[in-house]
Amino acid sequence: ALNADPAETRALAAEAKTLDELRTIMVAYDGCGLKHRATQLCFADGNPESEIMLVGEAPGSEEDLQGRPFVGKAGQLLDRMLKAIGLDRSKVFIVNTVPWRPPGNREPSPEEMALCQPFLFRQIELVAPKFLVTLGNVPTKQLFQTSTGITRMRGQWKDLTIGSHQVPAISMFHPAYLLRQPGQKGLAWRDWLGL
Ligand code: URA
Repeated sequence: ALNADPAETRALAAEAKTLDELRTIMVAYDGCGLKHRATQLCFADGNPESEIMLVGEAPGSEEDLQGRPFVGKAGQLLDRMLKAIGLDRSKVFIVNTVPWRPPGNREPSPEEMALCQPFLFRQIELVAPKFLVTLGNVPTKQLFQTSTGITRMRGQWKDLTIGSHQVPAISMFHPAYLLRQPGQKGLAWRDWLGL
């Protein structure tokens, strides 16, 4: 299916006054091609009252089945890293750049990300976190508006303006990357401790 115009998602997202309203709008929305091959919407996980918001890339197969972000292998590592700094899912809110699984776990395309960005921005505005963490290249490039890779971007705080919300943000390695490159866990540990 073809993707619709981001002007449409921008208008829809603006209508949502609460996260529940936003979820309802996103469940009903049919304009994103990803939705048509996904099992279901993967809206968010964790506590919407929390001060820390994590932005991942996209749902994988396990997330697609359960309708919750980061419940597969990478999510289990994320849980262990959160635990190591005294956090868990009751103290963070977790979303992805796109809320539907890209077929075969490919990266979301620029068009798909542009289309879903108003939904992501509205999630961030409604949660209004005190700290934002981007996990891996895809959300880092999008939210920090950079083409610089994660290896150079990670670990540095920067104030971002997301819609109407200003928030200090840091990028970190994606847990799926750390599963493949466990030698990088030392740098990740440093970033989590900083948070
Ligand atoms: N990887 C992501 O980026 N997001 C998920 O929800 C799961 C794995």
